[in-house]
Amino acid sequence: MKIAMLGSGFIARFYAESLHAQRRKDELVTVYSRDIKNAKRLADDYGVAHHTDSMQAAIEHPQVEVVLIALPNDLHELAVTQCALAKKHVICTKPLGRNAKEAKRMLDSVETAGIFGGYLEDLCYTPKFLKSVESIRKGTIGRVLWAKSRETHPGPHSAWFWDKEKSGGGALIDLGCHCVEISRNFIGKNIRPLEVMCWADTQVHPIEAEDHAIGLVKYANGAIGQFEVSWAFRGGMDLRDEVMGTEGTIWINSFLRTGFEMFTTGMGSGYVAEKAEVNKGWLFPVGDEAHELGYPNMFTDMFSAIEENRQPQETFYDGYVVNAILDAAYASAKSKLWEPVLLEDWRGDEITEAQNELTTYDADHYLIKEEKLPNGDTKVILKNKLTGEVSQRIFR
Ligand SMILES: NC(=O)c1ccc[n+]([C@@H]2O[C@H](COP(=O)([O-])OP(=O)(O)OC[C@H]3O[C@@H](n4cnc5c(N)ncnc54)[C@H](O)[C@@H]3O)[C@@H](O)[C@H]2O)c1
Repeated sequence: MKIAMLGSGFIARFYAESLHAQRRKDELVTVYSRDIKNAKRLADDYGVAHHTDSMQAAIEHPQVEVVLIALPNDLHELAVTQCALAKKHVICTKPLGRNAKEAKRMLDSVETAGIFGGYLEDLCYTPKFLKSVESIRKGTIGRVLWAKSRETHPGPHSAWFWDKEKSGGGALIDLGCHCVEISRNFIGKNIRPLEVMCWADTQVHPIEAEDHAIGLVKYANGAIGQFEVSWAFRGGMDLRDEVMGTEGTIWINSFLRTGFEMFTTGMGSGYVAEKAEVNKGWLFPVGDEAHELGYPNMFTDMFSAIEENRQPQETFYDGYVVNAILDAAYASAKSKLWEPVLLEDWRGDEITEAQNELTTYDADHYLIKEEKLPNGDTKVILKNKLTGEVSQRIFR
């Protein structure tokens, strides 16, 4: 693919690193930044032939087949609209919109223009995540009951994130978008999110938006998603997921514990890892940050999907659903009530009841629990199907 990069900041560098640091077929052909010096710097650093301070010129560059949006949240819609006008495929960083209305307009404009719309949710492409989702699809942990995702760090690196107008909110929109989509993947993206209960507060920073939030998302099959986000966490970037199923459990730690620990008195140390707060003492570096964070797998899926004329794993529609869940979370943080997820366009299954399957023990009983005791006995706890009576049997 021949790619135009819009933006030359933090995430643009991660994207350029993923696309140009190793041998790949895909190539950045132009970089747009409103400051031409920044565009040139990124172009020089990553060997990009062309740079510009005109967004339109980058999108319309004759070689460009796909546009990669790496701009602040308030510019995503403008950039997508321009791609739709120019009929160029578009892949957009997270969150798709600042709210579901904005995301829906973006979804509509790519679908009306007949162009490709990929949602760059990198954390749904990490090697650990892909393997765990595959295991879940194979039934390895049974029916998913609860999927928790946590992203916390000491706060973002640019002023616009802290400005609610430009970002759409605080830690909840910035980090919650990752957590919500991670839980959706574990629970099943075809399962409708019904309602959200969320606590959010501004505990530390002098900002209008929240710097800490925790919430629950209820799904139509009875599963529960949980998100924990913070811009006030000290100690680096904590990315962890936990999934509980009827037949098993998955724990993923994606960043602070990747199996690489290093101690230094501080001699010769510099950058350690994204959002690391210190560079001496015991440190948790990350071998290949771009890969651990899922970027190469994500781009491979996006570009293969364009070539194969199929949907990618993460679409603009997914970005819209995530925004709708986060809108409900903001409403709940305000009302202190469960708030409905308002999806005017639902493309998944219509399940109306929680799917709780009971395990039959014999003709008269359901099995509640079986356990091996320290004395070697096996205890079976049962419920009578007719009377509801709970009883136990011991086998020596
Ligand atoms: N894991 C991830 O997927 C991830 C991580 C970080 C950021 N992001 C997303 O990437 C996007 C950009 O974030 P970032 O961290 O690179 O921010 P950044 O501040 O480091 O970079 C933003 C870029 O946009 C440009 N820009 C800012 N205001 C502009 C304007 N008014 N007109 C034109 N250009 C403007 C800046 O010059 C810079 O090149 C955001 O949507 C953010 O949520 C995603």
